[in-house]
Amino acid sequence: MTAPNSAQLPLPRLRPMRAADLDVLLAHEQAMFGSEAWSRESYLDELADTELRYYLVAENADGVLLGSGGLMTIGETAQILTVGVLPAARRHGLGRVLVRALITEARRRGASEVLLEVREDNLAARKLYEAEGFANLGRRRGYYDRGRVDAVTMRYAI
Ligand SMILES: CC(C)(COP(=O)(O)OP(=O)(O)OC[C@H]1O[C@@H](n2cnc3c(N)ncnc32)[C@H](O)[C@@H]1OP(=O)(O)O)[C@@H](O)C(=O)NCCC(=O)NCCS
Repeated sequence: MTAPNSAQLPLPRLRPMRAADLDVLLAHEQAMFGSEAWSRESYLDELADTELRYYLVAENADGVLLGSGGLMTIGETAQILTVGVLPAARRHGLGRVLVRALITEARRRGASEVLLEVREDNLAARKLYEAEGFANLGRRRGYYDRGRVDAVTMRYAI
Protein backbone atom coordinates (compact mmCIF):
# COMPACT_ATOMS: atom_id res chain seq x y z
CA MET A 1 0.00 0.00 0.00
CA THR A 2 1.21 3.50 -0.78
CA ALA A 3 1.27 6.21 1.88
CA PRO A 4 -0.99 9.21 1.16
CA ASN A 5 0.53 11.71 -1.27
CA SER A 6 3.80 9.84 -1.64
CA ALA A 7 3.04 8.64 -5.16
CA GLN A 8 3.33 12.09 -6.75
CA LEU A 9 6.75 12.98 -5.38
CA PRO A 10 9.79 10.70 -5.44
CA LEU A 11 11.81 10.82 -2.22
CA PRO A 12 13.66 14.13 -2.08
CA ARG A 13 17.39 14.28 -1.57
CA LEU A 14 18.64 16.34 1.32
CA ARG A 15 22.01 18.06 1.32
CA PRO A 16 23.67 21.04 3.01
CA MET A 17 22.69 24.43 1.60
CA ARG A 18 25.36 26.23 -0.43
CA ALA A 19 25.69 29.86 -1.43
CA ALA A 20 24.98 28.73 -5.00
CA ASP A 21 21.43 27.77 -3.91
CA LEU A 22 20.57 31.33 -2.97
CA ASP A 23 19.59 32.54 -6.45
CA VAL A 24 16.79 29.98 -6.56
CA LEU A 25 15.84 30.36 -2.91
CA LEU A 26 15.76 34.15 -3.03
CA ALA A 27 13.54 34.11 -6.12
CA HIS A 28 10.85 32.52 -3.91
CA GLU A 29 11.75 34.11 -0.60
CA GLN A 30 9.25 36.98 -0.64
CA ALA A 31 6.35 34.80 -1.78
CA MET A 32 7.16 32.16 0.84
CA PHE A 33 7.96 34.29 3.87
CA GLY A 34 6.43 37.73 3.22
CA SER A 35 7.52 40.19 5.90
CA GLU A 36 9.87 37.53 7.33
CA ALA A 37 11.81 37.22 4.05
CA TRP A 38 15.59 37.18 4.45
CA SER A 39 18.16 38.96 2.30
CA ARG A 40 21.11 37.36 0.54
CA GLU A 41 23.38 38.93 3.16
CA SER A 42 21.38 37.34 5.98
CA TYR A 43 21.63 33.92 4.35
CA LEU A 44 25.34 34.33 3.72
CA ASP A 45 25.91 35.28 7.36
CA GLU A 46 23.94 32.23 8.45
CA LEU A 47 25.80 29.88 6.12
CA ALA A 48 29.14 31.20 7.36
CA ASP A 49 28.37 30.14 10.94
CA THR A 50 28.74 26.40 10.53
CA GLU A 51 29.56 25.96 14.20
CA LEU A 52 26.09 26.85 15.45
CA ARG A 53 24.00 26.74 12.31
CA TYR A 54 22.90 23.96 10.00
CA TYR A 55 21.07 24.70 6.75
CA LEU A 56 19.86 22.09 4.33
CA VAL A 57 17.95 21.95 1.07
CA ALA A 58 15.73 19.30 -0.48
CA GLU A 59 15.93 18.68 -4.19
CA ASN A 60 14.39 16.24 -6.61
CA ALA A 61 16.31 13.65 -8.63
CA ASP A 62 17.02 16.27 -11.31
CA GLY A 63 18.61 18.61 -8.78
CA VAL A 64 15.64 21.00 -8.75
CA LEU A 65 15.42 22.73 -5.42
CA LEU A 66 12.14 22.07 -3.60
CA GLY A 67 12.61 23.40 -0.10
CA SER A 68 14.97 24.34 2.69
CA GLY A 69 15.36 24.45 6.43
CA GLY A 70 17.69 25.91 9.03
CA LEU A 71 18.63 25.16 12.61
CA MET A 72 20.69 26.85 15.32
CA THR A 73 21.98 24.80 18.24
CA ILE A 74 23.43 26.36 21.37
CA GLY A 75 24.18 23.94 24.17
CA GLU A 76 21.19 21.73 24.83
CA THR A 77 18.71 23.94 22.99
CA ALA A 78 18.21 23.92 19.27
CA GLN A 79 15.96 26.31 17.41
CA ILE A 80 14.36 25.85 14.02
CA LEU A 81 15.07 29.12 12.23
CA THR A 82 13.28 28.46 8.97
CA VAL A 83 11.44 25.80 7.02
CA GLY A 84 10.06 26.43 3.55
CA VAL A 85 8.71 24.34 0.70
CA LEU A 86 8.24 25.83 -2.75
CA PRO A 87 4.53 26.24 -3.49
CA ALA A 88 4.48 23.67 -6.32
CA ALA A 89 5.97 20.98 -4.03
CA ARG A 90 3.67 21.45 -1.04
CA ARG A 91 1.42 18.84 0.58
CA HIS A 92 3.62 15.93 -0.44
CA GLY A 93 5.27 15.45 2.93
CA LEU A 94 8.39 17.49 2.25
CA GLY A 95 7.79 19.87 5.15
CA ARG A 96 7.72 16.82 7.42
CA VAL A 97 10.94 15.48 5.91
CA LEU A 98 12.70 18.80 6.51
CA VAL A 99 11.48 19.13 10.10
CA ARG A 100 12.53 15.56 10.87
CA ALA A 101 15.97 16.15 9.36
CA LEU A 102 16.42 19.25 11.50
CA ILE A 103 15.40 17.34 14.64
CA THR A 104 17.86 14.57 13.73
CA GLU A 105 20.64 17.14 13.38
CA ALA A 106 19.68 18.77 16.69
CA ARG A 107 19.93 15.36 18.37
CA ARG A 108 23.28 14.70 16.71
CA ARG A 109 24.54 17.99 18.10
CA GLY A 110 23.51 17.01 21.61
CA ALA A 111 20.39 19.13 22.01
CA SER A 112 17.67 17.95 24.37
CA GLU A 113 14.97 20.23 22.97
CA VAL A 114 14.02 22.03 19.78
CA LEU A 115 12.21 25.36 19.99
CA LEU A 116 10.61 27.48 17.30
CA GLU A 117 8.44 30.52 16.79
CA VAL A 118 5.66 30.55 14.24
CA ARG A 119 3.18 33.22 13.25
CA GLU A 120 -0.12 32.66 14.96
CA ASP A 121 -1.89 33.02 11.60
CA ASN A 122 0.36 30.46 9.84
CA LEU A 123 -2.00 27.53 10.22
CA ALA A 124 -0.19 25.30 7.72
CA ALA A 125 3.10 25.53 9.60
CA ARG A 126 1.45 25.18 13.01
CA LYS A 127 -0.34 22.03 11.85
CA LEU A 128 2.89 20.64 10.47
CA TYR A 129 4.80 21.24 13.71
CA GLU A 130 1.96 19.84 15.83
CA ALA A 131 1.81 16.77 13.63
CA GLU A 132 5.56 16.28 14.17
CA GLY A 133 5.22 16.38 17.95
CA PHE A 134 5.82 20.02 18.86
CA ALA A 135 3.74 21.32 21.77
CA ASN A 136 2.66 24.91 22.33
CA LEU A 137 4.88 26.59 24.87
CA GLY A 138 3.70 30.17 24.92
CA ARG A 139 3.18 33.30 22.92
CA ARG A 140 5.18 36.38 22.03
CA ARG A 141 2.81 39.26 21.66
CA GLY A 142 3.27 41.40 18.57
CA TYR A 143 6.40 39.56 17.48
CA TYR A 144 5.68 39.91 13.76
CA ASP A 145 4.59 42.68 11.42
CA ARG A 146 5.54 45.56 13.69
CA GLY A 147 3.45 44.38 16.59
CA ARG A 148 0.43 43.24 14.62
CA VAL A 149 0.82 39.44 14.75
CA ASP A 150 1.72 37.23 17.71
CA ALA A 151 4.24 34.40 17.60
CA VAL A 152 3.33 31.04 19.04
CA THR A 153 6.37 29.37 20.59
CA MET A 154 6.58 25.60 20.35
CA ARG A 155 8.84 22.94 21.84
CA TYR A 156 9.85 19.44 20.91
CA ALA A 157 11.54 17.33 23.58
CA ILE A 158 14.25 15.11 22.13
C1 LIG B 1 4.49 25.13 6.17
C2 LIG B 1 5.13 24.41 4.97
C3 LIG B 1 6.62 24.30 5.19
C4 LIG B 1 4.52 23.00 4.88
O1 LIG B 1 5.21 22.28 3.86
P1 LIG B 1 4.54 21.04 3.12
O2 LIG B 1 5.61 20.31 2.38
O3 LIG B 1 3.36 21.46 2.34
O4 LIG B 1 4.06 20.17 4.38
P2 LIG B 1 3.74 18.61 4.40
O5 LIG B 1 3.23 18.18 3.07
O6 LIG B 1 4.92 17.88 4.94
O7 LIG B 1 2.54 18.56 5.44
C5 LIG B 1 2.64 17.84 6.66
C6 LIG B 1 1.41 18.13 7.49
O8 LIG B 1 1.36 19.52 7.85
C7 LIG B 1 -0.01 19.97 7.80
N1 LIG B 1 -0.17 20.96 6.73
C8 LIG B 1 0.75 21.32 5.79
N2 LIG B 1 0.24 22.30 5.00
C9 LIG B 1 -1.01 22.54 5.43
C10 LIG B 1 -2.03 23.43 5.02
N3 LIG B 1 -1.86 24.27 3.99
N4 LIG B 1 -3.18 23.43 5.72
C11 LIG B 1 -3.37 22.61 6.76
N5 LIG B 1 -2.44 21.71 7.20
C12 LIG B 1 -1.28 21.69 6.54
C13 LIG B 1 -0.84 18.76 7.53
O9 LIG B 1 -1.14 18.15 8.78
C14 LIG B 1 0.11 17.90 6.74
O10 LIG B 1 -0.20 16.54 6.75
P3 LIG B 1 -1.18 15.94 5.60
O11 LIG B 1 -0.72 16.47 4.26
O12 LIG B 1 -1.01 14.47 5.75
O13 LIG B 1 -2.54 16.46 5.94
C15 LIG B 1 4.80 25.15 3.64
O14 LIG B 1 3.42 25.41 3.57
C16 LIG B 1 5.56 26.46 3.45
O15 LIG B 1 6.69 26.47 2.97
N6 LIG B 1 4.93 27.60 3.84
C17 LIG B 1 5.58 28.92 3.64
C18 LIG B 1 6.77 29.11 4.54
C19 LIG B 1 6.42 28.94 5.99
O16 LIG B 1 5.39 29.40 6.46
N7 LIG B 1 7.30 28.25 6.77
C20 LIG B 1 7.10 27.98 8.18
C21 LIG B 1 7.48 29.11 9.04
S1 LIG B 1 9.23 29.30 9.18
